[in-house]
Amino acid sequence: MKIPEPRESEVTDEAVFLNRREVLRLGAAAALGTLVAGCPEGGQADPPDPLALRRLPDVAPAAPAFRVDEEPTSFEDVTSYNNFYEFGTGKQDPAREAHTLRPEPWSVVVDGDVGRPGRVPLEDLLAAAPLEERIYRFRCVEAWSMVVPWIGVPLARVIERFQPGPKAAYVAFETLVDPEQMPGQRRRVIDWPYREGLRMDEAMHPLAFLAIGLYGRVLPNQNGAPIRLVVPWKYGFKSIKSIVRMSFTEKQPHTSWNDLQPSEYGFYANVNPEVDHPRWSQARERRLGEFRKRPTLPFNGYAEQVAGLYAGLDLRRNF
Ligand code: MTE
Repeated sequence: MKIPEPRESEVTDEAVFLNRREVLRLGAAAALGTLVAGCPEGGQADPPDPLALRRLPDVAPAAPAFRVDEEPTSFEDVTSYNNFYEFGTGKQDPAREAHTLRPEPWSVVVDGDVGRPGRVPLEDLLAAAPLEERIYRFRCVEAWSMVVPWIGVPLARVIERFQPGPKAAYVAFETLVDPEQMPGQRRRVIDWPYREGLRMDEAMHPLAFLAIGLYGRVLPNQNGAPIRLVVPWKYGFKSIKSIVRMSFTEKQPHTSWNDLQPSEYGFYANVNPEVDHPRWSQARERRLGEFRKRPTLPFNGYAEQVAGLYAGLDLRRNF
């Protein structure tokens, strides 16, 4: 990506939220094994130096409809407690290992039922819309959560430019496959590439977002550089990282976690406190940096905006 020198920006500044004490508390909670349901972890990987990441210029501050009124999770927590199995299955592995990923140059293959297929350089894809900030809740299926100030473009604006055809009922996404850059792919913990997908009306929803940055700067590799999906009303595993393909399909696409364990991870994966994961409750969640659990909200707090997409659908069966 070729990005011009930044001007002063009003977007959320990572320095405001850098809070060592929070990280130390989090590390202590992790050491006690109390941090996450189903995934005990120890220690904390070194977070990246935010100042080493390029600041993104000309970013519109988050509009009221796209910012939650909650304190963003610290930059350190967002960038050092990750799921990115291409770099290992531990929460600290991505921050330690993802330096081997080369996010520049980058392109995305667009194919399927679409008027303008092709291999699209990232900078062309981003020409679809001006960069904007979105401050969203993010809820992992493992019952931890965060609030993240993302930077990127609305997914709908990108999709429109490719002119999906009449048979395009779904959009499928794939992550890069390259064990040189992603050493975790030497083990077949997942049938690589990592795959995800959305129904077309979900993908066109104004909340669906393609992020290229967070906290005013380009995405750190461990967060899915250079471009990832963010679907705030769904469990975090839908938010696929380091995207290299978008395919417009008639049939519901295969998705990694649903393929791996269909009884535990559905295609829809809408955040739903009333439908438990078979191995743990989804009623509550632990916000990174906090001790007490808080109630999980239907559709992660975005029910007013998105519940209508699922009218008539049995959300217990279509979980
Ligand atoms: N994308 C890829 N390619 N590989 C992954 O392992 N993990 C998913 C999702 N996207 C994953 C992925 C899961 S389970 C979660 S919770 C989020 O990324 C975590 O995003 P974060 O590390 O930026 O918090």
